[in-house]
Amino acid sequence: MSVPLIVGSGIVTLILVVWAVADAARRPVVAWNRIQRGKGTWIALMVIFTLACGVIGFLMAIYYLFVVRKQLAVAAATPVVTIADLQGDGGGPVDVVRTVALTKHFPLRRVARHEGDGPVIRAVDGVDLAVPPGTTLGLVGESGSGKSTVARLVLRLMPVTSGQVFFDGEDITAISARALRERRGGMQLVFQDPYSSFDPQATVVDSVKEPLLAQGVAGAAAEQRVSELFDLVGLPQAHLQRYPRELSGGQLQRAGIARALTVNPKLVVMDEPVSALDVSTQAQVINLLEDLQRDLGIAFLFIAHDLSIVRHVSDRIAVMYLGQIVEEGPAAALYESPTHPYTHALLSAIPVPNPTVQRTRARVVLQGEIPSPASPPSGCRFRTRCPYAMDVCAEEEPPAYVGADGVVARCHLHTAGPTLAGGSIADLTAPSASSAG
Ligand SMILES: Nc1ncnc2c1ncn2[C@@H]1O[C@H](COP(=O)(O)OP(=O)(O)O)[C@@H](O)[C@H]1O
Ligand code: SF4
Ligand SMILES: [Mg+2]
Repeated sequence: MSVPLIVGSGIVTLILVVWAVADAARRPVVAWNRIQRGKGTWIALMVIFTLACGVIGFLMAIYYLFVVRKQLAVAAATPVVTIADLQGDGGGPVDVVRTVALTKHFPLRRVARHEGDGPVIRAVDGVDLAVPPGTTLGLVGESGSGKSTVARLVLRLMPVTSGQVFFDGEDITAISARALRERRGGMQLVFQDPYSSFDPQATVVDSVKEPLLAQGVAGAAAEQRVSELFDLVGLPQAHLQRYPRELSGGQLQRAGIARALTVNPKLVVMDEPVSALDVSTQAQVINLLEDLQRDLGIAFLFIAHDLSIVRHVSDRIAVMYLGQIVEEGPAAALYESPTHPYTHALLSAIPVPNPTVQRTRARVVLQGEIPSPASPPSGCRFRTRCPYAMDVCAEEEPPAYVGADGVVARCHLHTAGPTLAGGSIADLTAPSASSAG
């Protein structure tokens, strides 16, 4: 639907209306005689045609204003990248998920059209992520940092403001609802609270079967598949006919994982899947996920607010703060020598089982709350809580620094400050760091 087409149909409509009205007004008697002589049919047809053009033009204008304009804005804000640009032709395996400059801004309030875009919540602001096949990317950050919004964008449960999402090598950022439905089976979601993600009125087996029914698999074949999956996730078959309230949180989360696996997905997004469970159940579910990945080769995007949980499941970890990834890299490297002060602070909050080591550890206490994503700080967004903040941090956004071990950090300490150049933050002594006993 192009702008010239809309403008053109509007002009044609206008000319026809003006011509018909002017002709009838200039020669009302002739017009009336024509009608009398039977030419009224032609005039009636012309009027109907004119009205039809008007209605079509009006609908097109509405469509343009509310749909095309937004799509054009997204397209204009996004330099289009192809998967070949990102991964090269015939190189390594194609990432199951890849995001490029992924951005989601929620309008803060309704604004009149003449006021422009209005204030927005910058929930996700330029996120680049990649999840290769059969691996787990851990996404961590405090509550409100934008993790769940990334999950919903990756699964295309909401439209992006700008940027791109690739699933299995295909750009799915703007594909049609029908095309998206066909790809839905390949990507599944496990929620934080299993009780709210199951229909309390339906038996567990009926809820677990849902994705199969959506794919056209029903009857005995669906029952058989669910039964196999219950074995796989370690749930007794007797639980199939129970209602969600009759299962413990851990059991129901296993059923949630079974539901996600029914249609053999390539990707499962886990949004804080163990946060609502007690510690021993958390460990059991995490062990289950590791086993499933080893056996089935599924890729996981595993979201948590606690670094100690993602540590055990992740191949790589991305640390998110106020809508942006501040550090990303192999899990082991990130734990052993964090290069961003925020990662360091999150890690220092995790208790170490060895009391001697725990006594000697410097604990970085983060001051205050995460700022509002509606008005993030200038320069580095972490600067209002960073113990190492320098003048440059308020003035310039830190560029990405790629370390030797593949860790990418966005912090001026590696480029403009004491120039750590990829070194560990633990090598610095923070002015407000305090020793924890
Ligand atoms: N639908 C929405 N409308 C407006 N603001 C939203 C919406 N969803 C999330 N947000 C805001 O976006 C920010 C990030 O939220 P979220 O992605 O849920 O973070 P997290 O999962 O890390 O806790 C928060 O400030 C939240 O209030
Ligand atoms: S850029 Fe500056 S404020 Fe931001 S994390 Fe690094 S030192 Fe702290
Ligand atoms: Mg969340």
